[in-house]
Amino acid sequence: MPLTRLVVQKFRNIKACDIELSAGFNFLIGPNGSGKTSLLEAIYLLGHGRSFKSTLTGRVIQNEAQELFVHGRFLSSDQFELPIGINKQRDGSTEVKIGGQSGQKIAQLAKVLPLQLIHPEGFDLLTDGPKQRRAFMDWGVFHSEPAFYEAWGRFKRLNKQRNALLKTATHYRELRYWDDELARLADNIDAWRRQYVQQISSVAQTLCQVFLPEFDIDLKYYRGWDKDTPYSELLEKSFERDQLLGYTFSGPNKADLKIKVGGTPVEDVLSRGQLKLMVCALRVAQGQHLTELTGKQCIYLIDDFASELDSQRRERLADCFKSTGAQVFVSSITQNQVADMIESNSKMFHVEHGTIEQG
Ligand SMILES: Nc1ncnc2c1ncn2[C@@H]1O[C@H](COP(=O)(O)OP(=O)(O)OP(=O)(O)O)[C@@H](O)[C@H]1O
Ligand SMILES: [Mg+2]
Repeated sequence: MPLTRLVVQKFRNIKACDIELSAGFNFLIGPNGSGKTSLLEAIYLLGHGRSFKSTLTGRVIQNEAQELFVHGRFLSSDQFELPIGINKQRDGSTEVKIGGQSGQKIAQLAKVLPLQLIHPEGFDLLTDGPKQRRAFMDWGVFHSEPAFYEAWGRFKRLNKQRNALLKTATHYRELRYWDDELARLADNIDAWRRQYVQQISSVAQTLCQVFLPEFDIDLKYYRGWDKDTPYSELLEKSFERDQLLGYTFSGPNKADLKIKVGGTPVEDVLSRGQLKLMVCALRVAQGQHLTELTGKQCIYLIDDFASELDSQRRERLADCFKSTGAQVFVSSITQNQVADMIESNSKMFHVEHGTIEQG
């Protein structure tokens, strides 16, 4: 679902930009502080309703301005060009419009614009806590299982209510009604995630063979609680411990994806460049799997493409992105660093002091 046009207004240092895009590679070239990451951040906002850099909308809206706009047109799966847009105000209010219809949900943006971001801090997917890896799994489950979004939202709300109840309950039976529903949702979420990890594993292994042939990657799903105990039973058994803690200790909100090479956690073995390649392999695997399953193409946003990579690895990565046939946005300080990626339908944009000109 490539974007064909992008209009950005009052977004960080980008005052106004209106560009026609390539359905293949779009390069953003410019010096430090020129606005390359900001443009990728604007596209990310259009697909996720939030920034990947800041949780505060006020930081993203241009200084002195009251609101920002990111809108454009995308090609739907039946090849119609449709408008899409998001507006955010300083008071936190958000408006989403898709296909001319206002009042759309942010999840709807994600449905029509599946995005994959690869940025210099991106290897926190492998080195940080499980939150990032849950988000990784849930990106895939969200796009492949229509009931997931609502089930996960409901699980999180019920889990919060349970945590509040734990503080006042005097006997487990006061929780049973909530726990029955929690367990039903947890079982669904667990099954969907397990199935997704199973499906993505072989695609990820094949891609890792291309980027890191010296390593054998192994993805293992952990559901967030002991594999032999049904969740409903676990909730009852852990009631007293959960009460002492003041929250529910185990559950799908503790799920993780353990990523190892040769039996050792990746963060203990791989170099920074290798970690970046591994993240690329995992993200491209998600994109490929999405296309196989739904026919949808995701858009790749690659910030600071060249960092940490030698020229041979850059070439390999360039070939891999070319083979996806997807729309790709690539930022780089110099044109030289992306020379391997340039194709006849590529577009080059020069970024300077927040202005973006096609070159
Ligand atoms: N809310 C804002 N209003 C105006 N300008 C801002 C705002 N937030 C950040 N900026 C400025 O926007 C500029 C763009 O930064 P950006 O991260 O997009 O640069 P970049 O081209 O990616 O640079 P690098 O090559 O160093 O990564 C910076 O100079 C930053 O100070
Ligand atoms: Mg940058």
